[in-house]
Amino acid sequence: MKKLLIVYHSKNGSTGKMAGAVLRGARHPDIQVDVRLKLAREAGADDLLWCDGVILGTPENFGYMSGAMKDFFDRTYYPLEGKIEGLPYAIFISAGNDGRGALSSIHRIAKGYPLKEVHEPVISRGEVGDGTLAECEELGMFLAAGIESGVF
Ligand SMILES: Cc1cc2nc3c(=O)[nH]c(=O)nc-3n(C[C@H](O)[C@H](O)[C@H](O)COP(=O)(O)O)c2cc1C
Repeated sequence: MKKLLIVYHSKNGSTGKMAGAVLRGARHPDIQVDVRLKLAREAGADDLLWCDGVILGTPENFGYMSGAMKDFFDRTYYPLEGKIEGLPYAIFISAGNDGRGALSSIHRIAKGYPLKEVHEPVISRGEVGDGTLAECEELGMFLAAGIESGVF
């Protein structure tokens, strides 16, 4: 069975809500993919080696990804050099009013691995609403279905 990893950090729960919706979508009953949800601080290189695709979620903090997500990249980048080239990925972000700094900081690092972005990022600004949660669910479903069928 193909495998999908979801890695996220959330300090106050908004990104966590989004992660829950991504997980729901990825676990759609018609899609047979093994899904693993991990906190960024508990995820490592083994998780990235295990999966066929990854979805990354972070709040925007000080115009950047969260420290925990940055730490995840710091811990995995060199051990995985040349080992996960082209791994499909997507991003979801919870921000107070922006999100562009978190997005560009992830894009820049992901280019180094390099990972292959296969879906538009989902960015929530302010309170996470039902529309955003539906987008997150769709994101999870899209990645899981794409990984299952091998289209990426
Ligand atoms: C220390 C800190 C820094 C933040 N910096 C930004 C920022 O630069 N841009 C922004 O849009 N929101 C910023 N925010 C707001 C958070 O991104 C927003 O509240 C987000 O929904 C938090 O997600 P969480 O509940 O998953 O922790 C910041 C919040 C904190 C606590």
